[in-house]
Amino acid sequence: MTAIATVILAAGAGSRMKSKMPKVLHQIAGRAMVSHLLDTVSTLNATKNIVVVASGMDDVRAEVAPAQTAVQKEALGTGHAVAAALPDLEGFVGDILVLYGDTPLITAKTLQAMIEARRASTDNAVVVLGFEPEDPLEYGRLVTNEAGDLEAIVEFADATDEEKSVRLCNSGVMAISSEHIEGLISAVGNENAKGEYYLTDIVSIARSKGLTCKVVKGQETELLGVNNRVQLAEAEEIAQERWRKQAMTQGATLIDPKSVFFSHDTILGQDVVVEPNVFFGPGVTVADGVRIKAFSHIEGATVGAKSQVGPYARLRPGAALGEEVKVGNFVEVKKASLDDGAKVSHLSYIGDAHVGAQANIGAGTITCNYDGYDKAKTVIGAGAFVGSNTALVAPVRIGKGAIIGAGSTVTKEVAEDALMVERASETQKAGWAKRFRAMKARLKK
Ligand code: UD1
Ligand code: CA
Repeated sequence: MTAIATVILAAGAGSRMKSKMPKVLHQIAGRAMVSHLLDTVSTLNATKNIVVVASGMDDVRAEVAPAQTAVQKEALGTGHAVAAALPDLEGFVGDILVLYGDTPLITAKTLQAMIEARRASTDNAVVVLGFEPEDPLEYGRLVTNEAGDLEAIVEFADATDEEKSVRLCNSGVMAISSEHIEGLISAVGNENAKGEYYLTDIVSIARSKGLTCKVVKGQETELLGVNNRVQLAEAEEIAQERWRKQAMTQGATLIDPKSVFFSHDTILGQDVVVEPNVFFGPGVTVADGVRIKAFSHIEGATVGAKSQVGPYARLRPGAALGEEVKVGNFVEVKKASLDDGAKVSHLSYIGDAHVGAQANIGAGTITCNYDGYDKAKTVIGAGAFVGSNTALVAPVRIGKGAIIGAGSTVTKEVAEDALMVERASETQKAGWAKRFRAMKARLKK
């Protein structure tokens, strides 16, 4: 059993993204690209995972923590970036997988195939993961010999027209034997169109030393590199297709899969039905038999079995719904738990609250949880009935089984089983409307 180390390159400026944020922090399915890679490599049980960052990229360091980072002081190219990780690999014996932080969709299975190909012969100094994209764009081209072995990688900027016609492209992923890595990387120069130290040059360098370089072929859907926002959207689409398929394979019904958007960590139970146009942000768990109705936006929330959410519901972080809870149209729930059987059916805001089991919250009820400085909590007892258009001014408690009359503003604790109603007294003037209309009619003549 030979050991594995991974080096993830993330120090590039990512200028084609036209962003103030480092490229690898741009998200796919609600998670930074570099974190997708770390997640994937975590399945390899590598001895070391090293992320190469530029100096000052503290946000990338924070994102990848506790993974180890190495600093590339200047972005002088991918070869130079790997060199920055070499001190951390001193004494390491085994296979080194180099991954690009902007190629987030690769699967662990493909990485395993790379490792196997590297180990197939001690002569295999470098294994490169190639693919044939629909449009080869500006990817580096793989130059192979009759035997199908790799002779060189030619960067697009340096390629002749003949070389550009090669369809087999470089994904950037390489497996390199620790025996050769130092010698190969140190021989890389920067005499090329971009004046950069290309990692890709190690192939021709290895060949000139009589070493063998192999190609493993992969799919574009795993190897798409993200250089700009158009490719970011393409990667997102591929990722979404994966989550949708996974959700359906695991027993959820998506009525219109293409209009449902998942995060990397969305968990759906069995027999969940998701209607069209639903967005899941990070941190959502939905239990069995739930129906998420159309146009709902859900993040950081848990939904208990057989609950109904939406249409047009918004569950924000900290929303915790028990079983058979109903959150209906135009209801927003934030940092609030709703116990089993609670119902908030229409047009309400429930924030910083606890709603007891079977409580019924009428249309237009608002928890007034913020005084401009601090948040305060509303506690509603089990079985309470809150009439429509009620303002609950927190901090406030409503006892079990209490009834609040419609249109009330509640500022004091309401006792268990009490009726609370706050309302100006009503006046009625018999026949007034009729007289009013008659007067108006006279004046208009
Ligand atoms: C690179 C490959 C190209 C391949 C393509 C696949 C080289 C020279 N070219 O081109 O053959 O087809 O990826 O997507 O390797 N990075 C650093 N430090 C640097 C430069 C880059 O860490 O000094 C990192 C970037 O953050 C990025 C990755 O390396 O995650 C790739 O860099 P990028 O500039 O995007 O390379 P490409 O031009 O796409
Ligand atoms: Ca790239």
